[in-house]
Amino acid sequence: MSDLRFDGQVVVVTGAGSGLGKAYALFFASRGASVVVNDLGGSLAGSGASAKAADAVVNEIVVAGGKAVANYNSVEDGAAIVDTAISAFGRIDIIINNAGILRDISFKNMKDADWDAVHAVHLKGAYKTTQAAWPHFRKQKYGRVIVTSSAAGLYGNFGQCNYSSAKAGLIGFGETLAKEGAKYNIFTNIIAPVAASRMTATVMPAEVLQYLAPEWVVPVVAVLVHPSNKTENGSIFEIGAGHAAKLRWERAGGALVKCDETMTPGAVLAKWADVNDFTKAAHPTTTADMVTYLRQSNALPPNPPGEDVRFDGRVAVV
Ligand code: NAI
Repeated sequence: MSDLRFDGQVVVVTGAGSGLGKAYALFFASRGASVVVNDLGGSLAGSGASAKAADAVVNEIVVAGGKAVANYNSVEDGAAIVDTAISAFGRIDIIINNAGILRDISFKNMKDADWDAVHAVHLKGAYKTTQAAWPHFRKQKYGRVIVTSSAAGLYGNFGQCNYSSAKAGLIGFGETLAKEGAKYNIFTNIIAPVAASRMTATVMPAEVLQYLAPEWVVPVVAVLVHPSNKTENGSIFEIGAGHAAKLRWERAGGALVKCDETMTPGAVLAKWADVNDFTKAAHPTTTADMVTYLRQSNALPPNPPGEDVRFDGRVAVV
């Protein structure tokens, strides 16, 4: 790890004015990268704007002898952020989609404005920023993308239906980019971090926060976006307190009821234990896996000779 460097690479870190984003920016600059420090500089709820947060991080990098420029656009205007990278450094290699806001409120009391603002920053922001970089990545046949999800997106969390749905959306977004980018050597991975920041300051006890330095998330992200990563693409990692663990989807063995008039609710209930039985679990990674599985379990007829069900490289209407 000590010798993983990023010399000559250009990294865009969104929301790099504080918390995790600041830790990424300082790290990449200290390892030789040129960094675009993007931050809108607003409140935790997403109101207001200021150049201060991004400027302070750029200043810290430059004083330490590193290379960085500030960008103050919202991630919703991702093209402007990528433009900053191209005009300052002439290229872009890595995007860390990290910017985020919170507007926690129970589902019962959720307002459209709270829903829309959170989705705009997290989901649309990652889409707009990464899409602006995509032609550069394709042309140079190289790109590394991090998408920031959350435990709330994986498991749901009380009072966060706006945030958790945006964060879950980012998982599908990242998994799809991984598939579309693979042949151009564009790798996308998804992280669910835990770190002490203004986001967690009021919801986690100080006793726990002291073990959650953002700097202890950074090395895992560095491994994922380094050119030496030739295997991890479309993976999900939970990272925090110096711990890192990969997650995957798991499908229970399931039950073949019948695809005729005997497929009734009662017949389903009779096999409910099998529907929920994880002792013969599978770990699907593509949409085609379900079709393959249905053929193997005789719910669908076998493939016609010489034909395989494949979705890669095609637009499938489901
Ligand atoms: P933070 O609040 O310290 O940092 C977020 C940064 O994003 C702020 O500097 C903010 O000004 C910036 N930002 C907000 N809206 C923006 C916009 N429209 N355009 C550009 N910049 C914008 O929070 P933290 O904890 O560092 O969060 C970083 C990411 O990690 C977020 O996506 C968050 O949802 C995610 N996350 C954090 C967890 C934690 O335990 N801290 C847990 C799970 C996910």
